[in-house]
Amino acid sequence: MEYNVIQLDNSYSVGIESIDEQHKQLISMCNNLYLNCYKKDEISQDFFRQGISSLISFMRYHLFVEEQLLSRIAFPEFHDHKEEHSNVIEFINRYLVYLGTDEEEQLKKSIPTIRDCILKHITVSDRKYANYIHTMNRYAPWHMKDSYLPTELFLG
Ligand SMILES: [Fe+2]
Ligand SMILES: [Fe+2]
Repeated sequence: MEYNVIQLDNSYSVGIESIDEQHKQLISMCNNLYLNCYKKDEISQDFFRQGISSLISFMRYHLFVEEQLLSRIAFPEFHDHKEEHSNVIEFINRYLVYLGTDEEEQLKKSIPTIRDCILKHITVSDRKYANYIHTMNRYAPWHMKDSYLPTELFLG
């Protein structure tokens, strides 16, 4: 499968710095997995397993953080978005079953597909709440702007 290494640029910003950083980090983790574990003939199994586990953990963490945010800002399509997150995880899990088995090569080959699934979520689905944040920031009464929609995310 063809893989073009891409970096997320600021045109995909959702307007919250830490989320943007997480998106960039996710894509960069996929790139690293592809370049270091798939393209090279000599690959360390442990290195690959560690890389894919870190990607999945970080992805789960990211989705959790995003859901906290969407709930906090009362995003009208919160439940749909949450369902899309479940679908992304379910999609990735289809390939994760190969981890640690004789067919691990299948998982390695799926890195471009996994990256595209994550990328699509960021560039299509996450745009919806990004637009919501943008619109709300634009029309929120001036005295509510700071408390209403944060430009940085503080959980807890
Ligand atoms: Fe996201
Ligand atoms: Fe999302």
